[in-house]
Amino acid sequence: VIDGTEQKALFITGKSHCDRSADDCGGGGLSQYRVVQYLCQSEYAEYGGSAKFFFRGIRLFWADVFETDDAAAADQTEDSAEAAGTESSAASGDTVTIGFAQVGHESDWRTASTDSCLSVFSADNGYDLQFVDCDNDSAVQLEAVRGFIEQDVDYIIIDPIVSTGWDTVLTECEEAGIPVIVIDRTIDDSDKYVSWVGSNFKTEGLAAGEWLKAYTGAKGISDVNVLVIEGSTGASATIGRTDGFKEIADANGWNILDSQTGDFTQAGGQEVMESYIKSYEGKFNVVVCQNDNEAFGAMDAMKAAGISYGVDGDVILVSFDACTAGLEYVMSGDINADFECNPLAAPFVEEVIKQLQAGETPEKEVYMTEHWFVNEDVLSTINVNGEDQDLTVVTKEIVDAQY
Ligand code: AHR
Repeated sequence: VIDGTEQKALFITGKSHCDRSADDCGGGGLSQYRVVQYLCQSEYAEYGGSAKFFFRGIRLFWADVFETDDAAAADQTEDSAEAAGTESSAASGDTVTIGFAQVGHESDWRTASTDSCLSVFSADNGYDLQFVDCDNDSAVQLEAVRGFIEQDVDYIIIDPIVSTGWDTVLTECEEAGIPVIVIDRTIDDSDKYVSWVGSNFKTEGLAAGEWLKAYTGAKGISDVNVLVIEGSTGASATIGRTDGFKEIADANGWNILDSQTGDFTQAGGQEVMESYIKSYEGKFNVVVCQNDNEAFGAMDAMKAAGISYGVDGDVILVSFDACTAGLEYVMSGDINADFECNPLAAPFVEEVIKQLQAGETPEKEVYMTEHWFVNEDVLSTINVNGEDQDLTVVTKEIVDAQY
C-alpha cells in the first residue's frame, strides 16, 4: 500500500530451465528483461518486441492482466526513462546490459577469457550479460551481434573470429547507438568501434623468432628446419604470429617446411602433427604451435611416433598462450618456450565502459601486458623490436599464479 492505495505487482519468477513461457525467466539463462521482451513480442506484438517498447509492454500487460487502466506508475517510469535517454538501465536500477559475442570454446585460453568476462560482468557487479558462444562460426557471430542490437543492449563486446567482414554490422551498431568494444583479436576492415583491448600478436611471433634465434645460437644449432601449426585461418592472432615469426625465419635463412592450420584446438594440433610426421619424419628439428592446445596435440602425435621433444629431445617445441597447463609443460621441459597471450581483458573493458558512462573518451587501443616463459636458464633476455625483453624461467609459484 502506497499513500493509502493498494498497488499490484507482476512478479516474473525463475525456474531451472527456461521454456520461454510468459512467467518463467529461467535459473541462469534468459533474464527477466528478456521475458518482458518476449511478452512484447507475443501478446503485445504491435508494440514491437524491441527493448525500445519495454515500458510500454509492461504498461499494457499490467492494464490487461489486472483489468485496470491504472497504469500511471508505469507511464511515469516510461516518461522519466525516455527523458533520461536510458530506458534499459533505468528499468533495472543501475543494471548495465552487455552482449558478448565470444569466439567459442576451442582452447584453455578461451575458457580463461570467458571466465574473466563472466566474473567481471556479473549480476552482483550490476551487469546483465548476454553471452553467446559462437563456436568458431562467423555467421553465428554476426547473427549474435544483430540479436544484441534487437535487444537494445547498452554495450556490445566482440571477440572477432576473423578480422574482416565487419563494416556492415558495425554500421548497424552505430546506427542503433550501441557502443562496441572489441577484445583480443582485431577487426581490420572497420574502425566503427569505441575501443579494442588485446594483444600484439605480431610482437608475440617476433618474440618466438628472436628466442629461437638466440637459443639455437647458444646451443650451436645451425640447421633450423621448422614445422608451424597455425591457429584458425583469418584470425588476427594467426596472422600476427605467422607474420612475426616468418620475419625472423626469413632474416635468418631458416627452412619453414610447412605451415598448416590446427584451428587452435588440441585435436587439430594432433591431426596436423600426425600428417607432418608422415611427410617430414627425420627432416625437422623445430615445431611451432600457435597455441598451447595445439602443442598438447602435437606432443601426443610425436610421443606416439617415438619422436622426442622439449629440453632433452630432438625437437624444439615452441608454443603461445602460456595458460596454466602450458606452463606446467614448460616447467617439466616438454615445451621449450611459451609466449604469453593475456586473456584477462575484461577488467580493462569495464574501465572503458565506466569511462563511456562518465562521458569520457576511452583509448582506441589498449595493449595487454605479456611475458615470455622458458624452461632453461641459458638466456636472460631477447631483443624484440629493438628492445631488450626478459625471459622468465617457469617455477611452481608462477604456474600456480597463472590463469
Ligand atoms: O585469439 C587468441 C587465441 O585464440 C589464443 O591464442 C588461442 O588459444 C585462442 O583460441
